[in-house]
Amino acid sequence: VTLPSGFPPPEVPAADAVPPLRWGIIGPGEIAAVFAGSVLAHTRQRITAVSSRSLDRATAFAGRFGIPVPLGSVEELVARADVDVVYVATQQHVHDGPALAAIAAGKHVLIEKPLAITAARADRILTAGRAAGVLVMEAMWTRYLPQASIIRRLVADGVLGEIRLVQAEHAQYFPPGHRLFSPEAGGGALLDLGIYPFAFASGLLGEPASSATSGSLAPSGVDAQSVTVQTFANGAQAVLSTGLLAKSPLAAFVAGTSALLEVHAPFFLPTGLTLSDDQLFGSSISWTDSSGIPAHQGLSYQATALASIVAGGAVESPVHSHAETVAIARRLDTARHALGFRFAGEEQVSGVPTG
Ligand SMILES: NC(=O)c1ccc[n+]([C@@H]2O[C@H](COP(=O)([O-])OP(=O)(O)OC[C@H]3O[C@@H](n4cnc5c(N)ncnc54)[C@H](OP(=O)(O)O)[C@@H]3O)[C@@H](O)[C@H]2O)c1
Repeated sequence: VTLPSGFPPPEVPAADAVPPLRWGIIGPGEIAAVFAGSVLAHTRQRITAVSSRSLDRATAFAGRFGIPVPLGSVEELVARADVDVVYVATQQHVHDGPALAAIAAGKHVLIEKPLAITAARADRILTAGRAAGVLVMEAMWTRYLPQASIIRRLVADGVLGEIRLVQAEHAQYFPPGHRLFSPEAGGGALLDLGIYPFAFASGLLGEPASSATSGSLAPSGVDAQSVTVQTFANGAQAVLSTGLLAKSPLAAFVAGTSALLEVHAPFFLPTGLTLSDDQLFGSSISWTDSSGIPAHQGLSYQATALASIVAGGAVESPVHSHAETVAIARRLDTARHALGFRFAGEEQVSGVPTG
């Protein structure tokens, strides 16, 4: 098989080609700060308000990013006429309350990943969004990077042939006491880190016919380390690993019958791609992201994408549908349950905590 002479160009909306929406941020913690900085640096989106349970924290965050309106409650933020879209950046066990409040107030919503800690809770939020006619999107930001659009194009054009094996892994070292070790805070490796490998495989291979997960729990009860093997109807497989105990290379590849595609590590950040032909000692071509938007600055792409989708009138993302968001959450539920980790009250659908 002969490789193409080069990579297709990325297909992402230009930041200055989409309408500037007015954003309100809920939960001014670690990721909210990175998001705010990247949005202000790389998009024409505006941030008009921020809310925290603590008005002091909201005021400090507002001062840092030049946000005009700091607020002390979710209710005040979602009620504001000068907020078009709400970014929910609280810890994941408390995404539901702010997300449902924003939807009820008629706002579009971008919700940090994982959208919710179980598939049932994710489905509840997304169903409410569709009923209200607003856009609800999980902040699976990797899907909106330039390299993700190139991968989609290569697959759609058949450059890889038939995909036979996808491998992706995301493990990092976290010290004991980190929120990821807390079952009450929706912790565990799968929900925070494993979601990236799961989403990567899902975008390429869809719904597995079967899956098996093996791994171990931390003393606190959350999943500490695991490997999931998914097998698809045509025999293709995905090997997805994650963990909180030791840093891994953060690698991902897609092996097709015509070509091998490797995403440069860390695969979930803006990095680059290498495409190799089907020969053991064959040739390869590479593409490097030269946008000047490195690492987590890439969170900005999803803000521009959201504004573009809102402008088109859709209520879900064309590259990360509600059905797929819930399906990935269900696969994460299944993997977590296989390891013996369940959240308190998880089975009581009518008792879904609203956070
Ligand atoms: N995309 C990425 O690369 C990335 C990276 C890291 C994290 N994340 C995701 O972003 C989310 C936040 O993570 P983070 O590291 O930024 O967390 P964090 O800084 O520990 O917390 C974020 C905010 O959550 C709110 N919060 C915490 N516990 C709460 C509770 N019991 N009730 C109500 N609000 C509570 C707090 O808001 P108040 O100010 O109101 O107290 C806090 O400021 C998580 O879902 C995480 O998975 C994404």
